[in-house]
Amino acid sequence: MSASSPAFPDVSSADFDTLERMAMACTRCRLSDSRTHVVFGVGDRSADVMLVGEAPGFHEDREGIPFVGAAGKLLTTLLEEVGLSRSAVYIANVLKCRPPGNRDPLDDEVEACKDYLFRQIELVDPLVIGTLGNFATRLILARSVGISRLRGQVFPYKGRAVVIPTYHPAALLRGTSPAKLEEARADMRLIAETLAERRLAVAAAGSSSGADGDRAGAEESASQLELF
Ligand code: URA
Repeated sequence: MSASSPAFPDVSSADFDTLERMAMACTRCRLSDSRTHVVFGVGDRSADVMLVGEAPGFHEDREGIPFVGAAGKLLTTLLEEVGLSRSAVYIANVLKCRPPGNRDPLDDEVEACKDYLFRQIELVDPLVIGTLGNFATRLILARSVGISRLRGQVFPYKGRAVVIPTYHPAALLRGTSPAKLEEARADMRLIAETLAERRLAVAAAGSSSGADGDRAGAEESASQLELF
């Protein structure tokens, strides 16, 4: 999944700084013509929780930082309600450049940009990935099922991570029912609870079999999810 598309420079072994430099100079798709800033990602590069949104909007494009507009403020509140701070998670988007007028990402744009995100996930190596909305969920789970059917569940991912899809905060701001906001709150609680469980699993694996056991134990507990 992280292999580079043949037409694009290979990012699969880039370290974080190199990857960021490559993204900053990226001209893989038309969005490089209209962007003000590349919005690479923000937060703790070794966070246990990574959140993946869709694409920068107006404010993100101006500042070069993900989720700084109204949707970002709601996201920060939802995180804080479950005891997670923005600075303790890593946040990135499927697209690193703003689609004009905040239109939906096009397939070829996602195709051109996805290597950056997959490499970011490998480098952060989180225990829990929260996907925000349809685009991030579809890309990361490689499933075309809508977000309302996938949210609130824990899916296995590669390595030691699991994926928990939830609504995109911008969708919650668009006059959606209060019930959806409550569902998003429940999803955030699930993210925090799953994080706590997975940290315990890592610690238990580490104390029984040393440092290598950490990773093996976490990977094993992630793969157990496939049994449910
Ligand atoms: N919406 C997103 O998906 N990402 C952002 O960074 C901001 C709004």
